[in-house]
Amino acid sequence: MVPQKKLWREMDFSKRTNWSTQLNPLAQKTEELRQDPDFLNLTVSNPTECGFSYLQPSLLQPLLDPANLCYTPDPRGLLSARKAVVNYYRAKGIFLSVDQILITASTSEAYSFIFKILAGHGDTLIGPAPGYPLMDYLAEINDVSLHRYNLHYQKGWAIDPKELRCLPKAKAALVVHPSNPAGNYVQPHEQDALAAWAGKHQSALISDEVFYDFHFGAKPSAPSFAAQNDVLTFTLSGISKILGLPQMKLSWIVITGPEAQRIEAMHRLEIVADTYLSASTVIQNALPQWLDAAPAIQAEIHQRIRTNRTFLQKSFENHPAVEVLEADGGWTSILKVPGIQTDEEWALLILEKSKVLLHPGYLFDLSENMTALVLSLIVPEKAFREGLARLSF
Ligand SMILES: Cc1ncc(COP(=O)(O)O)c(C=O)c1O
Repeated sequence: MVPQKKLWREMDFSKRTNWSTQLNPLAQKTEELRQDPDFLNLTVSNPTECGFSYLQPSLLQPLLDPANLCYTPDPRGLLSARKAVVNYYRAKGIFLSVDQILITASTSEAYSFIFKILAGHGDTLIGPAPGYPLMDYLAEINDVSLHRYNLHYQKGWAIDPKELRCLPKAKAALVVHPSNPAGNYVQPHEQDALAAWAGKHQSALISDEVFYDFHFGAKPSAPSFAAQNDVLTFTLSGISKILGLPQMKLSWIVITGPEAQRIEAMHRLEIVADTYLSASTVIQNALPQWLDAAPAIQAEIHQRIRTNRTFLQKSFENHPAVEVLEADGGWTSILKVPGIQTDEEWALLILEKSKVLLHPGYLFDLSENMTALVLSLIVPEKAFREGLARLSF
C-alpha cells in the first residue's frame, strides 16, 4: 500500500496553502506537557477556558426563541441584529444607520469579505508590526500581500506619521484598535495621519476593534473608527471578544465614509455575503439580548485583565532587566526580556525549566524591535500568579 504521505505529495494542491505542518521545538514541548498537571499555559486567549462565571446556562435562553424555526435570510444580517449593533455604537455616542452594518459569522470572515471587495490578486494592504498573526494568513488565502508599517515603542506604542506618509500606495491600511498584542489605541492624530494617507491613495481604512471595550483606564484612550467619515472605513467587531463568546460566531462590519463609496461598498459586500449566508439565524436572533448583558460580562473580564496586569507590573517593577511594556487596553501584555538569546529560545527555556508557556514575540512580528514574550491577561488569576512566580530571567 502507498503511504499516506506519498499520496499527499502526488496531489497538486494550491501553492497558497503550502504551509509547513512540522511542529517547531516549542510546539513539540507544549504537546508533551499538555497533560502534565504542573503545566501552566499563560497564553490562553479562549475565554471559555478561563473559568469566567458569566458562562451560565441562562445565557442559552435566547436560543429557544421560536423565531429560530423560520429562515428568512438577509445577506446584510437580520434587521434586529443590525439594530442591536446600531444601539451598541449609540451608547458610545456614534450614530449609525442599519444600512451601514453587515453581519458576518466572525471577524476573520469580515476581513476576508473586505479584502475581496477591495483587492485583487497581488494587490497590497498595509498592516501594523507588531500585529496579530492571523492577518498574514487572511491576506495569503485572499491572494493579497500584507506589507508592514511599524509601531514604535517609547513609553507606549505609536505609529510614526512621517513613516506613514512615505508608505507606497496600497488598497487599504489595517489597524488593530487597541492592538493585539501591543495594547495601544490608535490616537486621534494617528487616525488623522491614516485618513490623510488613505485620502491621498484612494485607499480604505480597516479597523479591527474586537478589544475596543477592554481599556485599562477609565475609558478607551481614542475614539472608534466607526466615527470616521472622511474616507471609506470598515470597522470590525464581534461577540468573540466583546461578549467573551467566541463559540457563538457573530461579528459585524460598520461602513463609514463618503456616502457614494460606502453605498457601493455595502452593495459589493452584500453580494459576497449572499454567496455564503454564513451568519446563523439563531445567533443573530440572540444578539439583542446578549448585547444587553455586555456590561455584566465585560465587568468580569475587565476585573480579570486589570488584576492580572497590576500583578504583572508589580512582579517586575524593580527588575533590572525585564520590562512590562506600557499599554492602554486589550487582553495581552508584552514582557521585554534580555536580548542574550532569542525570544524563541527564552520561551523554550522557560517551558522546559518551569513548565510555563509564553508566546515568543516573533509570532507577533516583535522580534525586529526587541526580544519579547507575550502573555494573555485573561488567564485565571491563580494560574497567572503561579506562572509568573516560576519565571526567572
Ligand atoms: C485582533 C483580533 N481580531 C480578530 C480576531 C478574531 O475574531 P473572531 O473570533 O471574531 O474571528 C482575533 C482573535 O483572537 C483577534 O485577536
